[in-house]
Amino acid sequence: MKKVTVSGLLKKKQAGEKITSLTAYDASFAKMFDEQGIDALLIGDSLGMVLQGEDDTLPVTIQDIAYHTKSVRKGTQRAFVIADMPFMSYATAEQTYQNAAVLMAAGASMVKMEGGSWLCDTISGLNLRGVPVCGHLGLTPQSVHVFGGFKVQGRDSEQAQKLLEEAKALEKAGIQLLVLECVPSALGKMISEALSIPVIGIGAGKDTDGQILVMHDMFGISANYMPKFSKNYLVETGDMRKAVAQYIDEVKCGEFPSPQHSFD
Ligand code: KIV
Ligand code: NA
Repeated sequence: MKKVTVSGLLKKKQAGEKITSLTAYDASFAKMFDEQGIDALLIGDSLGMVLQGEDDTLPVTIQDIAYHTKSVRKGTQRAFVIADMPFMSYATAEQTYQNAAVLMAAGASMVKMEGGSWLCDTISGLNLRGVPVCGHLGLTPQSVHVFGGFKVQGRDSEQAQKLLEEAKALEKAGIQLLVLECVPSALGKMISEALSIPVIGIGAGKDTDGQILVMHDMFGISANYMPKFSKNYLVETGDMRKAVAQYIDEVKCGEFPSPQHSFD
């Protein structure tokens, strides 16, 4: 079985093939998603909400992410494994290097950080030290208290322009993937076309280079509320493996997300 690599993901973008991704937190689900052919698995700090029952992602620690990354790595043979750097674990360059090392040692092949151009020096520093980086722009949940709630980002043209500039700056600094969360579909399209690296959307419309969902939302079993951009595939299929397969199919053929699961 050929492992998915960062260059394999780039080739998919270049070939116009959609990238499929889900969050995963344990070996059993990682194995199920991997066997269905998912391209990438993210150990997201969303685990604070869906596993720990917190109201937001802020209480999650580097040890939490490392623990779940170890489990996911053990269940994964093919998919590319990305781990989230939690709130305040990358406030300084030194902290970032130490914490990224913990996640890479736990089995991640890439780390993800939320934020714009303030991260550029850290990103190139990580790259120089052998750590690939995924960016995350738009609705960055670690900043929920700055935003004043979980809100769609980049709706006015000034904000949209700023997000586009931030995305370009991150690419220039060395990110090899970008997660774009909760932005209008037109902006999702614009940023995906402006960057050479793959852009993975969540609530960013159908024109990004790939899609990611929180696994509990995709199964419709989240403890908290279900975001508008998510779709319950378990209710449609009545079977977990079929639900995953259908999610992957619908992303690949461009059926998901529909306008109903997007913002304008
Ligand atoms: O924590 C997470 O699960 C994420 C994805 C929703 C992109 O960051
Ligand atoms: Na996250």
